[in-house]
Amino acid sequence: MANRLTINYEKKPCYDIVFASDYNGLLEELQDFNIKERRAAIIADSNTVSLYGEEIKKLLDGNCKKVILYSFPAGEEHKTLDTVKDIYKTLIEEKYDRKDLLIALGGGVVGDITGYAAATYLRGVDFIQLPTTLLSQVDSSIGGKTGVDFDGYKNMVGAFYMPKLVYMNISVLKTLDERQFFSGFAEVMKHGLIKDASFYEWLLDNMYEIQDREPQVLEEMVMRSCNIKKLVVEKDPKELGDRALLNFGHTIGHAIEKAKNFEMLHGECIALGAVAAAFISWKHNWLSMEEYYEIRDMYVPFNLPISVDDINPEEILTLTKSDKKMSAGQIKFVLLKKIGKAVIDMNVTDEDILNAVNEIYFSEEDEKA
Ligand code: GLY
Repeated sequence: MANRLTINYEKKPCYDIVFASDYNGLLEELQDFNIKERRAAIIADSNTVSLYGEEIKKLLDGNCKKVILYSFPAGEEHKTLDTVKDIYKTLIEEKYDRKDLLIALGGGVVGDITGYAAATYLRGVDFIQLPTTLLSQVDSSIGGKTGVDFDGYKNMVGAFYMPKLVYMNISVLKTLDERQFFSGFAEVMKHGLIKDASFYEWLLDNMYEIQDREPQVLEEMVMRSCNIKKLVVEKDPKELGDRALLNFGHTIGHAIEKAKNFEMLHGECIALGAVAAAFISWKHNWLSMEEYYEIRDMYVPFNLPISVDDINPEEILTLTKSDKKMSAGQIKFVLLKKIGKAVIDMNVTDEDILNAVNEIYFSEEDEKA
């Protein structure tokens, strides 16, 4: 029996996350949604279509009224309204109606785009998440955030729209390339740092097993991470309060992501943003110096960067101000009161941000020294 977690929305069970080691149990899970009577559109990107597209299509063929497999080129640069428009066109051409079903097969970009297309096509059709990266399994497939980037700004257009099911095949994590895997790990670390010191300790204790991607350790890591996210999104599904804690590392992280033209992976930028936020937490006398350096150095064995070259700290500061995480012109900065307890701070100054960016900035002078 696969393990599962139920996510509640407005205090009622809304959807299940199923943790499995293959796709064999997917069809049985889908029976609850009367798929015999419905058309399904599998939405993948150019990577996941060749890896798992045919396997999922074969599984559904003959069990749904109709199945199509649609794909778009992989990469954050395709997380746009143009891709969503192309999905709408395909669904219209194939005569999909409100009873039909979208299935997101891929990482965060595929999940966010498919969710947004599902939220808006005919004012809303059901969708299911089959997350295939660590980042999408532990973070983006849960909690109903959907959307696209707009004009170079991350997730500027979107909707909260809950999936009907999240089915995670944990074994796919084995085949991820190193950069993708560790990029997702930045979000796992984030969950420990903001909400659960014992999970953070567990990550430290299981460092080698995680690096080796031992299946049982990965399953426990993904499940514990999802459980933290569950508790946060159930309490504050629309990010009116505590859900913003999940943005730890994202203010400076998103600014670096944009300054680098999305050439660095999301988790790599979030690791840098988390180090910067931990630095500010130390300077605000919440973390000790030892804790700050422990957090910073913890990213190293997971192949995540703790410094970055070729940025302009002033530009990063400016970019933090155009991020969505603002309230009445003031940045809602997430800091650590201690390991396992994050808080939202409205009093982070430009100087704090510049000092923190300089802390992670590896300049030409550093190189010469
Ligand atoms: N990834 C942050 C959130 O879901 O709120």
